[in-house]
Amino acid sequence: MAEQEYDLMHKDDVVASLQLDDLSGAILKVTPSASPELLPLGGSQGADSLRKWWLRRAVPISQGNIAALLQQEGIPSTQRLLVRNLGLSLSDHYWIKPSGSELTWKDVSPFSNAFSSLSEAAAAHFHSPDAALQGDLIKKWLIVDDTRCLLKGNRGANSQQSLNEVLASMLHKKQGFSNHVRYRPVKFTGSASEQYGCICKDFASETLEFIPAIDVVDSEKKDNAVSTYEHFIHVCAEHGLSEQEVRGFLEYQVLTDFVLTNTDRHLNNFGILRDSQTLKFVRMAPIFDSGNSMFWDAPRLPERSDCTEITVNSFRKTETELLKLVTDRSRVRMDLLPCRNEIAELYAKDDSIAFVDSILTGYEKKKVLMERFMEKGLPEQTHLKRSTGFER
Ligand SMILES: Nc1ncnc2c1ncn2[C@@H]1O[C@H](COP(=O)(O)OP(=O)(O)OP(=O)(O)O)[C@@H](O)[C@H]1O
Ligand SMILES: [Mg+2]
Repeated sequence: MAEQEYDLMHKDDVVASLQLDDLSGAILKVTPSASPELLPLGGSQGADSLRKWWLRRAVPISQGNIAALLQQEGIPSTQRLLVRNLGLSLSDHYWIKPSGSELTWKDVSPFSNAFSSLSEAAAAHFHSPDAALQGDLIKKWLIVDDTRCLLKGNRGANSQQSLNEVLASMLHKKQGFSNHVRYRPVKFTGSASEQYGCICKDFASETLEFIPAIDVVDSEKKDNAVSTYEHFIHVCAEHGLSEQEVRGFLEYQVLTDFVLTNTDRHLNNFGILRDSQTLKFVRMAPIFDSGNSMFWDAPRLPERSDCTEITVNSFRKTETELLKLVTDRSRVRMDLLPCRNEIAELYAKDDSIAFVDSILTGYEKKKVLMERFMEKGLPEQTHLKRSTGFER
């Protein structure tokens, strides 16, 4: 088996020596450096965890046109594509340096150097940070007026996921909650029907790097008696965040995801920002990726359901279970939520979004449920409160 030697780097510090499989780009062997604290948090629990972190770092084969690109360029795997692009990312400061190379972070950092899209990278002699870009939706990094920006598309030929991101931005703004990504709609020209994508600024920088919650959770062994939710809060507190801040953020996110029916708040869809010099956690990363919401994949659902049993991909299996995590219901103001007309106006940008009335009916049903929760808590919590009052 042919192999290649690389150093895994964190800016200009060597984190580990790696032997990579020439063909697949997978990690064959890891020799950690004398600074284990520099290992990526999600790959810090032994060689296997680093292998998995590397695999997870590679752009998913299911994203956009990646499978076609690999075939066209004769690249055998997404990890190999990642190696070709030196593992560079615009979300954090890890990369790989071929053994014997004199390259420095200054030479390669996508935060300060030009870069290309994946299809142009080889011809343009640039590296592309898109090879380390997660998520299923088609997307790419761009430089707009010297600012690193992420352009996202949709699944299929309607714009709802992108417009949902714009809606979430509008909601957080109206709530006066500033720690969220601001997505703007972008019209894609050239397509037969008018379609919108969305664009947002990079929330990582030369000094701050993003660590997804999955890596925070995986960085320490969890006691079986402790939930993943509490474990996440505990690890964040150990790295310098206040428990109150983390809980406040997560509860606000649960509440706003509920009203938007965002069913996809998995552990790669939120995280923290870390100072890459001190390695201390600085704050929760701004709320991003709220696109899989507003009944985007089941727009007729609200017509036949009371919307009380919606399943989610998150810390709990249903929205109702998630609401149980909320200790302070006043984190969201009902009177500041977007109204039906504002949402209708936003969706009217794209006439390919079907069943808008049904989606809006769903939103209003959710607002009623939320109102009830705000006033009385969940039915079983009401019961608890009532019985305590009765006993007294
Ligand atoms: N503004 C940003 N700044 C830095 N990194 C970002 C930003 N937005 C997204 N990312 C990174 O890119 C990844 C993919 O982005 P995003 O979650 O928006 O895509 P997606 O395709 O909608 O994901 P999913 O498959 O969860 O639906 C994120 O998990 C995060 O690591
Ligand atoms: Mg995502």
